[in-house]
Amino acid sequence: MQAIWITKHGAPKVLEVRESPDPDPAAGEVRIRVRAAGLNFAEVMARQGLYPDAPKTPCVVGYEVAGEVDALGEGVSDVKVGDRVAAMTRFGGHASVVVVPEARVFAMPESMSFEEGAALPVNYLTAYHMLFEIKRVRPGEKVLVHMAAGGVGTAALQLCRTVDDVTTYGTCSAKKHEYARGHGCDHPIDYRSEDYAEVIRRDLGDKQLDLVLDALGGRDWKKGYELLRSTGTLVAFGWANMNVGGKRSLLRVVSQMAGLPRYTPMKMMQDNRSIAGVNMGHLWHEGAMVRREGLALMKLYEEGKIKPHVDRVFSFAEAAAAHEYLESGKNVGKVVLTP
Ligand SMILES: NC(=O)c1ccc[n+]([C@@H]2O[C@H](COP(=O)([O-])OP(=O)(O)OC[C@H]3O[C@@H](n4cnc5c(N)ncnc54)[C@H](OP(=O)(O)O)[C@@H]3O)[C@@H](O)[C@H]2O)c1
Repeated sequence: MQAIWITKHGAPKVLEVRESPDPDPAAGEVRIRVRAAGLNFAEVMARQGLYPDAPKTPCVVGYEVAGEVDALGEGVSDVKVGDRVAAMTRFGGHASVVVVPEARVFAMPESMSFEEGAALPVNYLTAYHMLFEIKRVRPGEKVLVHMAAGGVGTAALQLCRTVDDVTTYGTCSAKKHEYARGHGCDHPIDYRSEDYAEVIRRDLGDKQLDLVLDALGGRDWKKGYELLRSTGTLVAFGWANMNVGGKRSLLRVVSQMAGLPRYTPMKMMQDNRSIAGVNMGHLWHEGAMVRREGLALMKLYEEGKIKPHVDRVFSFAEAAAAHEYLESGKNVGKVVLTP
Protein backbone atom coordinates (compact mmCIF):
# COMPACT_ATOMS: atom_id res chain seq x y z
CA MET A 1 0.00 0.00 0.00
CA GLN A 2 0.94 3.68 -0.28
CA ALA A 3 0.71 6.24 2.50
CA ILE A 4 1.55 9.92 2.98
CA TRP A 5 4.17 10.12 5.72
CA ILE A 6 4.95 13.19 7.82
CA THR A 7 8.68 12.47 8.00
CA LYS A 8 9.31 15.30 10.53
CA HIS A 9 7.65 18.56 11.57
CA GLY A 10 8.01 21.38 9.09
CA ALA A 11 6.96 22.82 5.73
CA PRO A 12 4.85 20.74 3.28
CA LYS A 13 8.03 19.35 1.69
CA VAL A 14 8.48 17.03 4.73
CA LEU A 15 5.61 14.90 3.31
CA GLU A 16 6.64 11.72 1.46
CA VAL A 17 4.64 8.96 -0.21
CA ARG A 18 6.05 5.59 0.91
CA GLU A 19 5.19 1.98 0.16
CA SER A 20 4.59 -0.70 2.82
CA PRO A 21 2.82 -4.10 2.99
CA ASP A 22 -1.00 -4.10 3.22
CA PRO A 23 -2.25 -4.56 6.80
CA ASP A 24 -4.50 -7.55 7.67
CA PRO A 25 -7.77 -6.96 9.54
CA ALA A 26 -7.84 -8.30 13.12
CA ALA A 27 -11.01 -9.68 14.73
CA GLY A 28 -13.86 -7.14 14.44
CA GLU A 29 -11.97 -5.08 11.85
CA VAL A 30 -12.68 -4.24 8.23
CA ARG A 31 -10.06 -3.61 5.54
CA ILE A 32 -10.83 -0.85 3.06
CA ARG A 33 -9.22 -0.08 -0.32
CA VAL A 34 -9.24 3.69 -0.01
CA ARG A 35 -10.52 5.69 -2.98
CA ALA A 36 -10.50 9.09 -1.25
CA ALA A 37 -9.29 10.48 2.10
CA GLY A 38 -10.25 13.78 3.76
CA LEU A 39 -7.64 16.41 4.62
CA ASN A 40 -8.33 18.46 7.74
CA PHE A 41 -6.89 21.54 9.40
CA ALA A 42 -5.81 19.21 12.25
CA GLU A 43 -3.56 17.23 9.89
CA VAL A 44 -1.92 20.39 8.57
CA MET A 45 -1.25 21.37 12.19
CA ALA A 46 0.11 17.85 12.86
CA ARG A 47 2.67 18.41 10.08
CA GLN A 48 3.53 21.82 11.55
CA GLY A 49 4.05 20.22 14.98
CA LEU A 50 1.12 22.21 16.43
CA TYR A 51 -1.44 19.44 16.96
CA PRO A 52 -1.16 17.99 20.46
CA ASP A 53 -3.07 14.78 19.62
CA ALA A 54 -0.86 13.82 16.66
CA PRO A 55 1.30 10.68 16.81
CA LYS A 56 5.09 11.10 17.00
CA THR A 57 6.85 11.61 13.67
CA PRO A 58 7.45 9.82 11.36
CA CYS A 59 3.73 9.12 11.15
CA VAL A 60 0.72 8.82 8.87
CA VAL A 61 -2.25 10.95 9.90
CA GLY A 62 -5.79 11.09 8.52
CA TYR A 63 -9.14 10.83 10.27
CA GLU A 64 -11.45 9.75 7.45
CA VAL A 65 -11.63 7.71 4.28
CA ALA A 66 -14.06 6.32 1.72
CA GLY A 67 -13.53 3.21 -0.36
CA GLU A 68 -14.42 -0.43 -0.93
CA VAL A 69 -14.24 -3.21 1.65
CA ASP A 70 -11.85 -5.94 0.49
CA ALA A 71 -11.30 -8.13 3.59
CA LEU A 72 -13.04 -8.85 6.89
CA GLY A 73 -11.67 -9.85 10.29
CA GLU A 74 -13.28 -12.62 12.32
CA GLY A 75 -16.72 -11.79 13.73
CA VAL A 76 -17.59 -8.90 11.40
CA SER A 77 -21.29 -9.25 10.63
CA ASP A 78 -22.80 -6.06 9.21
CA VAL A 79 -20.25 -5.26 6.50
CA LYS A 80 -19.54 -7.34 3.35
CA VAL A 81 -16.61 -7.52 0.95
CA GLY A 82 -17.38 -5.11 -1.92
CA ASP A 83 -19.42 -2.64 0.18
CA ARG A 84 -18.87 1.05 -0.57
CA VAL A 85 -18.20 2.67 2.78
CA ALA A 86 -17.01 5.79 4.55
CA ALA A 87 -15.00 5.30 7.74
CA MET A 88 -13.33 7.10 10.61
CA THR A 89 -9.67 6.34 11.15
CA ARG A 90 -7.94 7.49 14.29
CA PHE A 91 -4.83 8.37 12.28
CA GLY A 92 -3.44 6.44 9.37
CA GLY A 93 -6.23 7.50 6.97
CA HIS A 94 -3.91 9.07 4.39
CA ALA A 95 -3.17 5.63 2.97
CA SER A 96 -4.40 3.49 0.08
CA VAL A 97 -5.40 0.66 2.47
CA VAL A 98 -6.69 0.98 6.05
CA VAL A 99 -8.10 -1.36 8.69
CA VAL A 100 -10.76 0.00 11.04
CA PRO A 101 -13.15 -1.39 13.66
CA GLU A 102 -16.53 -2.32 12.14
CA ALA A 103 -18.30 0.23 14.36
CA ARG A 104 -16.45 3.09 12.60
CA VAL A 105 -17.64 2.03 9.14
CA PHE A 106 -20.74 3.55 7.50
CA ALA A 107 -22.39 2.22 4.34
CA MET A 108 -22.50 4.99 1.74
CA PRO A 109 -25.71 5.75 -0.15
CA GLU A 110 -25.57 4.71 -3.84
CA SER A 111 -25.54 8.31 -5.02
CA MET A 112 -22.62 9.37 -2.78
CA SER A 113 -19.24 9.66 -4.52
CA PHE A 114 -16.07 8.46 -2.79
CA GLU A 115 -14.87 12.08 -2.60
CA GLU A 116 -18.10 13.08 -0.84
CA GLY A 117 -17.82 10.04 1.45
CA ALA A 118 -14.33 11.12 2.50
CA ALA A 119 -15.51 14.69 3.02
CA LEU A 120 -18.32 13.79 5.36
CA PRO A 121 -17.17 12.11 8.61
CA VAL A 122 -15.05 14.74 10.40
CA ASN A 123 -16.81 17.92 9.26
CA TYR A 124 -20.40 16.70 9.46
CA LEU A 125 -20.03 14.63 12.64
CA THR A 126 -18.44 17.63 14.39
CA ALA A 127 -21.18 20.00 13.22
CA TYR A 128 -23.99 17.50 13.92
CA HIS A 129 -22.65 16.73 17.38
CA MET A 130 -22.55 20.44 18.28
CA LEU A 131 -25.95 21.30 16.81
CA PHE A 132 -27.98 18.28 17.85
CA GLU A 133 -26.17 16.46 20.66
CA ILE A 134 -24.69 19.31 22.72
CA LYS A 135 -27.40 21.81 21.84
CA ARG A 136 -30.75 20.85 20.36
CA VAL A 137 -31.22 23.62 17.81
CA ARG A 138 -34.88 24.56 17.64
CA PRO A 139 -37.02 26.40 15.08
CA GLY A 140 -36.59 30.16 15.23
CA GLU A 141 -33.13 30.08 16.87
CA LYS A 142 -30.16 32.26 15.90
CA VAL A 143 -26.74 30.70 15.37
CA LEU A 144 -23.28 32.18 14.73
CA VAL A 145 -20.95 29.91 12.73
CA HIS A 146 -17.29 30.98 12.59
CA MET A 147 -15.01 29.86 9.71
CA ALA A 148 -18.29 29.53 7.85
CA ALA A 149 -16.86 28.65 4.43
CA GLY A 150 -14.56 25.93 5.77
CA GLY A 151 -15.44 22.24 6.01
CA VAL A 152 -17.10 22.29 9.44
CA GLY A 153 -18.67 25.68 8.73
CA THR A 154 -20.31 24.44 5.52
CA ALA A 155 -21.62 21.35 7.32
CA ALA A 156 -23.02 23.48 10.18
CA LEU A 157 -24.78 25.85 7.77
CA GLN A 158 -26.37 22.99 5.83
CA LEU A 159 -27.47 21.26 9.03
CA CYS A 160 -29.00 24.48 10.42
CA ARG A 161 -31.12 24.56 7.26
CA THR A 162 -32.69 21.22 8.29
CA VAL A 163 -34.46 23.04 11.16
CA ASP A 164 -37.27 25.49 10.33
CA ASP A 165 -36.65 29.20 10.54
CA VAL A 166 -33.11 29.10 11.97
CA THR A 167 -31.18 32.32 11.27
CA THR A 168 -27.46 31.91 10.65
CA TYR A 169 -24.64 34.44 10.87
CA GLY A 170 -21.32 33.27 9.44
CA THR A 171 -17.84 34.80 9.50
CA CYS A 172 -15.67 34.31 6.43
CA SER A 173 -13.60 36.41 4.04
CA ALA A 174 -15.60 38.53 1.57
CA LYS A 175 -14.79 36.45 -1.53
CA LYS A 176 -16.41 33.42 0.14
CA HIS A 177 -19.74 35.13 0.96
CA GLU A 178 -21.59 33.91 -2.11
CA TYR A 179 -20.48 30.35 -1.37
CA ALA A 180 -21.58 30.66 2.29
CA ARG A 181 -24.99 32.04 1.23
CA GLY A 182 -25.40 29.11 -1.17
CA HIS A 183 -24.96 26.67 1.70
CA GLY A 184 -27.46 28.38 3.99
CA CYS A 185 -25.74 31.39 5.57
CA ASP A 186 -28.33 34.15 5.97
CA HIS A 187 -25.83 36.81 7.04
CA PRO A 188 -22.19 36.35 5.96
CA ILE A 189 -19.85 38.77 7.77
CA ASP A 190 -16.40 39.72 6.48
CA TYR A 191 -14.62 39.49 9.83
CA ARG A 192 -11.50 41.06 8.27
CA SER A 193 -13.21 44.41 7.61
CA GLU A 194 -15.99 44.47 10.22
CA ASP A 195 -16.37 43.55 13.87
CA TYR A 196 -18.79 40.62 13.73
CA ALA A 197 -20.09 41.31 17.24
CA GLU A 198 -21.04 44.87 16.24
CA VAL A 199 -22.78 43.66 13.08
CA ILE A 200 -24.82 41.12 15.03
CA ARG A 201 -25.73 43.65 17.78
CA ARG A 202 -26.75 46.17 15.14
CA ASP A 203 -29.02 43.57 13.49
CA LEU A 204 -30.52 41.81 16.47
CA GLY A 205 -29.88 43.95 19.54
CA ASP A 206 -27.72 42.93 22.47
CA LYS A 207 -27.44 39.31 23.69
CA GLN A 208 -29.73 37.59 21.20
CA LEU A 209 -27.84 34.53 19.90
CA ASP A 210 -28.85 31.02 20.94
CA LEU A 211 -25.66 29.31 19.83
CA VAL A 212 -22.10 30.24 18.86
CA LEU A 213 -19.83 27.61 17.21
CA ASP A 214 -16.28 28.84 17.78
CA ALA A 215 -13.02 27.18 16.71
CA LEU A 216 -11.16 30.52 16.83
CA GLY A 217 -10.60 30.64 20.58
CA GLY A 218 -9.06 33.15 22.99
CA ARG A 219 -10.77 36.57 22.94
CA ASP A 220 -13.34 35.31 20.42
CA TRP A 221 -14.72 32.89 23.03
CA LYS A 222 -15.33 35.89 25.27
CA LYS A 223 -16.93 37.89 22.45
CA GLY A 224 -19.17 34.95 21.56
CA TYR A 225 -20.29 34.37 25.15
CA GLU A 226 -21.25 38.05 25.43
CA LEU A 227 -23.52 37.72 22.37
CA LEU A 228 -25.58 34.91 23.92
CA ARG A 229 -29.08 35.35 25.21
CA SER A 230 -30.33 33.59 28.35
CA THR A 231 -30.17 29.79 27.74
CA GLY A 232 -27.61 30.38 24.97
CA THR A 233 -24.56 28.13 24.49
CA LEU A 234 -21.02 28.76 23.31
CA VAL A 235 -19.38 25.64 21.86
CA ALA A 236 -15.57 25.80 21.85
CA PHE A 237 -14.12 23.27 19.40
CA GLY A 238 -10.74 24.63 18.27
CA TRP A 239 -8.21 27.38 18.85
CA ALA A 240 -7.20 28.44 15.32
CA ASN A 241 -6.16 31.90 16.57
CA MET A 242 -3.20 30.21 18.25
CA ASN A 243 -1.83 29.25 14.85
CA VAL A 244 -0.91 32.14 12.62
CA GLY A 245 1.38 31.53 9.66
CA GLY A 246 1.87 27.90 10.73
CA LYS A 247 3.96 28.82 13.76
CA ARG A 248 3.24 29.03 17.47
CA SER A 249 5.21 31.92 18.91
CA LEU A 250 5.56 32.44 22.65
CA LEU A 251 4.18 35.96 22.24
CA ARG A 252 1.12 34.60 20.50
CA VAL A 253 0.55 31.97 23.20
CA VAL A 254 0.84 34.60 25.97
CA SER A 255 -1.52 37.02 24.21
CA GLN A 256 -4.05 34.24 23.49
CA MET A 257 -3.94 33.00 27.10
CA ALA A 258 -4.40 36.58 28.34
CA GLY A 259 -7.55 36.88 26.22
CA LEU A 260 -9.09 33.69 27.62
CA PRO A 261 -12.36 34.31 29.43
CA ARG A 262 -12.37 32.98 32.98
CA TYR A 263 -15.94 32.05 33.78
CA THR A 264 -17.00 30.14 36.86
CA PRO A 265 -20.05 27.87 37.11
CA MET A 266 -21.46 30.59 39.41
CA LYS A 267 -21.28 33.21 36.66
CA MET A 268 -22.82 30.86 34.11
CA MET A 269 -25.62 30.08 36.57
CA GLN A 270 -26.32 33.79 37.12
CA ASP A 271 -26.17 34.44 33.36
CA ASN A 272 -28.25 31.38 32.43
CA ARG A 273 -25.72 30.60 29.68
CA SER A 274 -23.44 27.66 29.10
CA ILE A 275 -20.09 26.84 27.54
CA ALA A 276 -19.48 23.40 26.05
CA GLY A 277 -16.32 21.84 24.66
CA VAL A 278 -16.19 19.41 21.75
CA ASN A 279 -13.27 17.34 20.49
CA MET A 280 -14.51 14.52 18.25
CA GLY A 281 -11.05 12.94 18.29
CA HIS A 282 -11.54 12.31 22.01
CA LEU A 283 -14.91 10.58 21.47
CA TRP A 284 -13.31 7.47 19.95
CA HIS A 285 -14.48 5.44 22.98
CA GLU A 286 -18.10 6.62 22.47
CA GLY A 287 -18.65 4.28 19.51
CA ALA A 288 -22.43 3.97 19.86
CA MET A 289 -22.99 7.73 20.02
CA VAL A 290 -20.78 8.50 17.04
CA ARG A 291 -22.38 5.64 15.09
CA ARG A 292 -25.88 7.00 15.76
CA GLU A 293 -24.79 10.43 14.57
CA GLY A 294 -23.07 9.00 11.46
CA LEU A 295 -26.16 7.00 10.48
CA ALA A 296 -28.36 10.10 10.93
CA LEU A 297 -26.03 11.99 8.59
CA MET A 298 -26.16 9.27 5.91
CA LYS A 299 -29.98 9.46 6.08
CA LEU A 300 -29.90 13.27 5.72
CA TYR A 301 -27.68 12.83 2.65
CA GLU A 302 -30.10 10.31 1.13
CA GLU A 303 -32.96 12.74 1.75
CA GLY A 304 -31.01 15.42 -0.16
CA LYS A 305 -30.73 17.67 2.91
CA ILE A 306 -26.94 17.76 3.13
CA LYS A 307 -24.20 17.48 0.50
CA PRO A 308 -20.48 17.84 1.21
CA HIS A 309 -18.84 20.44 -1.00
CA VAL A 310 -15.58 19.02 -2.34
CA ASP A 311 -13.47 22.01 -3.28
CA ARG A 312 -10.37 20.30 -4.72
CA VAL A 313 -9.04 16.80 -5.13
CA PHE A 314 -5.27 16.21 -4.98
CA SER A 315 -3.45 12.92 -5.63
CA PHE A 316 -1.26 11.47 -2.85
CA ALA A 317 1.76 12.59 -4.91
CA GLU A 318 0.43 16.17 -4.63
CA ALA A 319 0.01 16.00 -0.84
CA ALA A 320 2.36 18.94 -0.26
CA ALA A 321 0.29 21.13 -2.59
CA ALA A 322 -2.89 20.01 -0.82
CA HIS A 323 -1.43 21.02 2.57
CA GLU A 324 -0.31 24.38 1.16
CA TYR A 325 -3.76 25.00 -0.30
CA LEU A 326 -5.56 24.33 3.00
CA GLU A 327 -2.95 26.21 5.01
CA SER A 328 -3.31 29.29 2.81
CA GLY A 329 -7.05 29.40 3.60
CA LYS A 330 -7.96 29.35 -0.11
CA ASN A 331 -10.30 26.40 0.28
CA VAL A 332 -14.07 26.63 0.39
CA GLY A 333 -15.43 23.40 1.81
CA LYS A 334 -13.34 20.23 1.67
CA VAL A 335 -9.95 19.23 0.33
CA VAL A 336 -9.66 15.53 -0.57
CA LEU A 337 -6.66 13.28 -1.31
CA THR A 338 -6.82 10.29 -3.68
CA PRO A 339 -4.32 7.42 -3.84
N1 LIG B 1 -12.94 19.78 17.97
C1 LIG B 1 -13.18 19.02 16.92
O1 LIG B 1 -13.64 17.89 17.05
C2 LIG B 1 -12.90 19.57 15.55
C3 LIG B 1 -13.23 18.81 14.42
C4 LIG B 1 -12.99 19.37 13.15
C5 LIG B 1 -12.41 20.63 13.05
N2 LIG B 1 -12.08 21.32 14.18
C6 LIG B 1 -11.49 22.66 14.10
O2 LIG B 1 -12.40 23.47 13.41
C7 LIG B 1 -11.72 24.48 12.70
C8 LIG B 1 -12.22 24.50 11.27
O3 LIG B 1 -11.84 23.31 10.63
P1 LIG B 1 -12.16 23.10 9.09
O4 LIG B 1 -11.67 21.75 8.72
O5 LIG B 1 -13.56 23.47 8.82
O6 LIG B 1 -11.20 24.20 8.45
P2 LIG B 1 -11.01 24.63 6.96
O7 LIG B 1 -11.95 23.94 6.05
O8 LIG B 1 -9.58 24.56 6.69
O9 LIG B 1 -11.46 26.19 7.00
C9 LIG B 1 -10.74 27.11 7.70
C10 LIG B 1 -11.15 28.51 7.23
O10 LIG B 1 -11.40 29.29 8.37
C11 LIG B 1 -11.08 30.63 8.09
N3 LIG B 1 -10.37 31.21 9.24
C12 LIG B 1 -10.82 32.25 9.99
N4 LIG B 1 -10.00 32.54 10.96
C13 LIG B 1 -8.98 31.65 10.90
C14 LIG B 1 -7.81 31.46 11.66
N5 LIG B 1 -7.52 32.20 12.73
N6 LIG B 1 -6.99 30.46 11.29
C15 LIG B 1 -7.28 29.67 10.23
N7 LIG B 1 -8.38 29.82 9.47
C16 LIG B 1 -9.22 30.82 9.79
C17 LIG B 1 -10.29 30.67 6.79
O11 LIG B 1 -11.18 31.15 5.78
P3 LIG B 1 -11.46 32.71 5.53
O12 LIG B 1 -10.99 32.97 4.14
O13 LIG B 1 -12.91 32.86 5.68
O14 LIG B 1 -10.66 33.49 6.55
C18 LIG B 1 -10.01 29.20 6.50
O15 LIG B 1 -10.04 28.89 5.12
C19 LIG B 1 -10.22 24.17 12.86
O16 LIG B 1 -9.70 24.99 13.87
C20 LIG B 1 -10.22 22.73 13.29
O17 LIG B 1 -9.08 22.41 14.03
C21 LIG B 1 -12.32 20.81 15.41
